[in-house]
Amino acid sequence: MIMTTNPLRIGLRQERVISPQCLVIFGASGDLTHRKLIPALFELFKQRRLPSEFAILGCARRPWTDKEFREKMSKSLTEEIRINPNDWKEFTTRLFYEPINLDHPEDTFKLKTRLEEIDKLKATHANRTFYLSVSPKFYASGCKALSEAGLLKDPKRSRIVIEKPFGRDYRSAQKLNRIVQNCALESQVYRIDHYLGKETVQNILVLRFANTIFEPIWNRNYISNVQITSAETVGVEDRAGYYESSGALRDMVQNHLTQMLAITTMEPPGHFDPEAIRNEKSKVLQAAHLANELEPWKCCVRGQYSQGGTKSNPLKGYREEVGVNPNSTTETYVAMKLFINNWRWQGVPFYIRTGKRLAKRTSEVVLTFREAPVHLFDAAGGTPTSNQLILRIQPDEGAEFKFEVKSPGSGMRSRPVEMEFSYDESFGEPSDEGYVRLLADAMLGDPTLFTRSDEVEAAWRLYTPLLEMIEDSPWQLPTYQYESRTWGPSEADQLLAKDQLLWRRP
Ligand code: BG6
Repeated sequence: MIMTTNPLRIGLRQERVISPQCLVIFGASGDLTHRKLIPALFELFKQRRLPSEFAILGCARRPWTDKEFREKMSKSLTEEIRINPNDWKEFTTRLFYEPINLDHPEDTFKLKTRLEEIDKLKATHANRTFYLSVSPKFYASGCKALSEAGLLKDPKRSRIVIEKPFGRDYRSAQKLNRIVQNCALESQVYRIDHYLGKETVQNILVLRFANTIFEPIWNRNYISNVQITSAETVGVEDRAGYYESSGALRDMVQNHLTQMLAITTMEPPGHFDPEAIRNEKSKVLQAAHLANELEPWKCCVRGQYSQGGTKSNPLKGYREEVGVNPNSTTETYVAMKLFINNWRWQGVPFYIRTGKRLAKRTSEVVLTFREAPVHLFDAAGGTPTSNQLILRIQPDEGAEFKFEVKSPGSGMRSRPVEMEFSYDESFGEPSDEGYVRLLADAMLGDPTLFTRSDEVEAAWRLYTPLLEMIEDSPWQLPTYQYESRTWGPSEADQLLAKDQLLWRRP
């Protein structure tokens, strides 16, 4: 069954105008810049959403020239450039590079001078967005350096985007917040989580608050449990240096999964305004807690991928990956059970899981509704299935609703069917990458989809008992091995089996 929509193509994108400005990327020689940021900026350029008075200044320690920077960036966009050679040529006239080490005060003055030159050349009016795509250990010193050089002085003309992870735990996030807020106003700070840039994550808000049918049943009276999954098929790739000290808990759970949890469970805001939305997200995260804070090993499972794959395509185990300690206990998989202590969700278990090298790439939120109070009909599979609303974040962006119907033929047996909505079929155009939306929003000065200081702290506080236990008595929370390209360790299945449930196998 397909739900049809008849969108007017024009008007799908609400146009807002980015003012003349220079986007400064620190960490311009890094992976994120060429894999995500430059492609996203090029996309905005092709969509004619960047002003003509616009420049991108890449900064890193490497002694590249503007020309070298342009060449490096073009290597990661070969297919795009082949299709749009003229656009790329035009786009690169806006790309500049300056070798900068933010730890060297003389470099920040060099940066200031270069920015003034760019202002003259491209008429960017001293309007700047600084993007910290550097190692998290440089977030504090980066903010201080920019502030000391006077580059964050004007809150109307300067803003700073900070990548995740923001802190390593509750205390370090608090400390980092204090430092950042000494350098800039909270309204200038954009803590980015690219999951909030995904169309399907934003759609949870629209689905919930633009329809009348969902909100009345979106609570403990009708929902029996919620599963939130973000599964990846890739391994650690070439990021062992970062991942070894992060693990799935810090890399995915504290930010991406927690944001999906907050959007799914928050109360309706009074109006669609950045602070109203962020107030509600922060509030619900403050009410969330691990199912067993005193004994986290009873509600959390950690795993680590081992070898797997096929004879023709064997896959390495995590401990054999380049740069990984052969005795590493870093988790590449986490599953856990949470509760939210408020009127709407009291008693409803939330199961969240994420992992690398799992069987399938998929992110989804699954709301399972309570069983019908009386079973009047025989069910095809023995027992009637519970209604489920599945919000497909990626891939196959969309949603599906599962419910029972009469099985054809004589008798009155029921069987489940699915009603489906697909972004692709309804809108016929792929959604933009999360970074396209978020970069545009940061440059527009719209903080709705960025994490506020209290939200980021609440998200860390939620996992504190777990982080402390891993730190103090890691044997209580061992990393169970799971074969690559399977659904994680069997201990994670037992976590749900205790509640007579199964993980959904998407
Ligand atoms: C990043 C993590 O934030 O998100 C990566 O650091 C992960 O480890 C990635 O692979 C997943 O993002 P997406 O959009 O592919 O689900």
